[in-house]
Amino acid sequence: MTHITVSTKPEHQGIHIVTAVAPKEISPDTPGSEVGEIRFNTAEQKAVVSLGKKEKINLETFRRAGGALAKWITKNKVKEAAIETFSFADYGMAPDQIAFALAEGLLLGSFRFDKHKSKKDDPALSNVYFLDASLKPTIEQAVIICDATNLARAWAHEPANVINPISLAERVQDLAKEVGLKCSILDDKELTDMGAGAIVAVGQGSSTPARLIVLEYQPPAESEAPPVALVGKAITFDTGGYSIKTTDGMVGMKHDKCGAMAVLGAIVAAARLKINTPVVAVLAAAENMISEIAYRPNDILKTLSGKTVEIISTDAEGRLVLCDALAYAQAQFKPRAMINLATLTGGVVVALGSTRAGLFSNHDELSKALFDIGEQVHERLWRLPLDEEYFELLKSEDADFKNSAGVRKAHPIVGGIFLKQFVNDETPWAHLDIAGVSDWDREMPYCPKGASGFGVRLLVEYLRRLG
Ligand code: BES
Ligand code: MN
Ligand code: ZN
Repeated sequence: MTHITVSTKPEHQGIHIVTAVAPKEISPDTPGSEVGEIRFNTAEQKAVVSLGKKEKINLETFRRAGGALAKWITKNKVKEAAIETFSFADYGMAPDQIAFALAEGLLLGSFRFDKHKSKKDDPALSNVYFLDASLKPTIEQAVIICDATNLARAWAHEPANVINPISLAERVQDLAKEVGLKCSILDDKELTDMGAGAIVAVGQGSSTPARLIVLEYQPPAESEAPPVALVGKAITFDTGGYSIKTTDGMVGMKHDKCGAMAVLGAIVAAARLKINTPVVAVLAAAENMISEIAYRPNDILKTLSGKTVEIISTDAEGRLVLCDALAYAQAQFKPRAMINLATLTGGVVVALGSTRAGLFSNHDELSKALFDIGEQVHERLWRLPLDEEYFELLKSEDADFKNSAGVRKAHPIVGGIFLKQFVNDETPWAHLDIAGVSDWDREMPYCPKGASGFGVRLLVEYLRRLG
């Protein structure tokens, strides 16, 4: 997944890397003016990576510089390099924060998904060291978090002929064993018996029917405290069902499992970091297909909550798998907070593009905490409203409500207000609509084109702050 390792080592003879701000006047031997511009001094075997203008430097600058370094190291087939910690002076941030951000840029920027290619992109392995041994714990944490992000990316990239609800459940089970997480899988029969009629209906048109995948993390010092529940949409492929997507609209829909992949990455990182808060993750997996037994528009489904839903669009399937997963997580675990991630609507892409994810919440404090963490880790959010009036758009003649308004009005908000019907007002809850940010249509400073892993770093930081 990545060909760069990052660790600490007290001494190093090979290439040395230093950071530098752009000087007022550029000359051939001074750092460039663009963030990530790299000048290499052959005689000294020293690479100088520019941070751009001093006034503009923040943690994101260091992530981007790290991403540029990853590219440069790959291109020049650098086997080993060391980063001089003394060069972090005077940037107004603690050295461990800077080292963390640089490591993030290096590890995330070197992600490749080439397992299905006969000719691999970059087979050579490079090792990067920080020379300050006191950074060891920081770097180890960065490695855990970036590995989890790259895992979320890699699994998101797998096509639907590799990952379907059943094979996903098996993979997660193996991973859980490796990491030491409790894992239980509810299959379509158990879900039917339980009354989870919405997730079952979405999956029923596929030869690989729905699975609810439940992961539980307990901190080393057993805790009676209620867990944080993370819930993710795992539509392994979204054809739209009978409300079928267009040819162009369907391409890329293997990425419709990105919400669940982020949640998975977050709980794996939480376990490896041994954080102090119990966490549960619920992955709502189904493949939205067409067949003679697929669900249809006008079907009326009985959800796990007991509420009935009339189907207007079989393409509004994400909210259906999530409504049962949210109801399950809430009833089963009585969580202290519940956060769901989903590539839920094209409407949020229209509203916020690929710069910010939509944030919807019934709780101002949780909403603010997530917003602030988003700014810090550069997985940015923007809150949209959930006024009760929006629920009028979902009125149904024959069922409790509909799954889609059938009009384009307030698209992402209608998705949020639908989910809200399944959450108790007493449970602090947030819904992140990541449809616009879960995969890039072009290369980014520390992410190649494709799945971004958006949400892993945000969720992990949220969990870490809880204790
Ligand atoms: N998976 C899609 C949302 C999506 C669209 C994700 C584009 C990434 C890129 C979701 O299931 C969907 O089809 N949403 C519909 C909802 C509508 C039918 C109410 C949409 O947004 O058009
Ligand atoms: Mn859909
Ligand atoms: Zn979908």
